[in-house]
Parts: sequence; structure tokens; C-alpha cells
Amino acid sequence: MDISNGSVLISGGAGGFGGATARRLAALGAKVVLADLADERGAELAAEIGGLYVQTDIMDETSIQAAIDAAISLAPLRAAVIAHGGPPPPDKGGRTIGRDGSRVSIAHFAHLVSVYLVQAYAVSSMAAQAMATNEPLASGQRGVIVNTASIAGFEGQPGQVPYGAAKGGIISMALNLARDLAPLGVRSMAIAPGTFLTYAYAQMGANKAQETFGPMVLNPKRMGEPEEYAMLAQQIIENDFLNGTTIRLDGGQRF
Ligand SMILES: NC(=O)c1ccc[n+]([C@@H]2O[C@H](COP(=O)([O-])OP(=O)(O)OC[C@H]3O[C@@H](n4cnc5c(N)ncnc54)[C@H](O)[C@@H]3O)[C@@H](O)[C@H]2O)c1
Repeated sequence: MDISNGSVLISGGAGGFGGATARRLAALGAKVVLADLADERGAELAAEIGGLYVQTDIMDETSIQAAIDAAISLAPLRAAVIAHGGPPPPDKGGRTIGRDGSRVSIAHFAHLVSVYLVQAYAVSSMAAQAMATNEPLASGQRGVIVNTASIAGFEGQPGQVPYGAAKGGIISMALNLARDLAPLGVRSMAIAPGTFLTYAYAQMGANKAQETFGPMVLNPKRMGEPEEYAMLAQQIIENDFLNGTTIRLDGGQRF
């Protein structure tokens, strides 16, 4: 799909994956809306790429709709890239039953599922609703949804039940959404990243993060770069035959 005359909504658009994707799609001529809560980073990036930063709380449907409306006001919404983080959980996580016998709370589980799955569905479905009103392109296509899963959704790690379950839901949703949206000419895909050096790891420091996580990757022995995610997001948007599946992007890493 040619994105040059369309708009793109990116949830978490000021973040690592979101920001790299925004730069790449803006360079192709897309009107990019960065839907995020990081005002300073978002406004700076929007100015750099000629995009629009819209302060958006991804936990709030009205706020998501305002970001979608902002995108539509620029050009028909052709793509949504869902790459947001969210507020911190209400309490400590860990193994389902910890060494002291305590259990990960339902509130903790529900919070992570809400941030990473329920609100990804909110953005996906609301974006699809907007895309349904687009004139189809000559290809018959109206739009594409790109979600962000994780390799944790395939194999997880100890202490990752809520996050892994949410990401497993994203993997399942890729095909289910594709089936529902096919009559509208809207595709649905997900990217399952391995370990990438994004803002999520910033407080740890880049060197420490590389030392810790780089060796876990099969080849190359380093963390992924956000630009590598952005390259795949672009390919998914442009290649109409990619639909209904999740692509691992992990340097061969298996936990
Ligand atoms: N970095 C990795 O290794 C990795 C691996 C697999 C999956 N992921 C997934 O990628 C996605 C993006 O993560 P990232 O690594 O780019 O993180 P990031 O921290 O770089 O970006 C996340 C962005 O979300 C924004 N955000 C947080 N709360 C928000 C809210 N309530 N409303 C709107 N925006 C909000 C943040 O401000 C930030 O800009 C997440 O779904 C994450 O689970 C990341």
C-alpha cells in the first residue's frame, strides 16, 4: 500500500519503536500522528519530521479517538502502528507464586493485559472503524493495522505470565482481526520483537543493557535497534500480501 498520501497513527509514537517508525514513514511522505504522553519528546520529534504530536492517554478511549480524528483531519487514515507502553502496574510482579508463597495479584495481571492487549484492541478497532470510511485504493485496500507483540508471547520467561499472556493475545488477534477486517480491505499484522534498545531500557543505561541482553541473541550478538523494527513496519504497510500473522524479529533469540 502506498502510504505517501495517507495518515498514520502511532500509539507510543514518541517511544523507541514508535519514533523510529514515525521517522521512516514521514520520510515516505505520510502524515504521521504521534499519540503519546511524552510531551517533550513527542513535540520535538513531530517538529523534526513534520508530523503532529497529539497528547494521548492510551488508557482512555476518548483520548484515542481525538488522536484518530487528528490523523483523519490531515489525510485518510491508512495505517495504525500500535507501540505504546503504559502506566506502571499497581504492585510488584514476579513468579506466579513467589519464594515467600505470595501470589501475583489479579490486579497486576489485569493491568498488564489492559495496557498491552485491551488497549491495543481499542486502538486497532477504532482505527479500523475510521479506515472503513476510506475510499479504497486501486488495489481495493483501505488500511492496515500493525500491532506489537513480543517473543514473550511465544515462550515467555519466569515471572512474565501477565505480559506473556497479553502478548499471546496480540499474536492471536493478528489473524482474528484480519478475518474480521478482510471485507473492508483492511489488513492486520503483528511484529514480535526480541530484545530491543528502546526508552524502556533507558534507565538501565545502553552499555549495561547491551551487556545483559546482547549475549542472549543468537546472531547478531546485540540488542535490536528500533530502526530494524521500523524497517519491518514499513514492509508490512507497503506489502499487501502480508496479512493475518505475526513476524518474529529477534535475531534468532529463544529464551
Ligand atoms: N523494547 C523491547 O525489547 C520490546 C520487546 C518486545 C516488545 N516490545 C513492545 O513494544 C512496545 C513499545 O515499546 P518500546 O520498547 O518502544 O518502549 P518505549 O518506552 O521506548 O516506548 C513506549 C512509549 O509509550 C508511551 N506511553 C506510556 N504510557 C502511555 C500512555 N498511557 N498513553 C500513551 N502513550 C504512553 C511512552 O511515553 C513511550 O513513548 C510495547 O508494547 C512493548 O511491550 C518491546
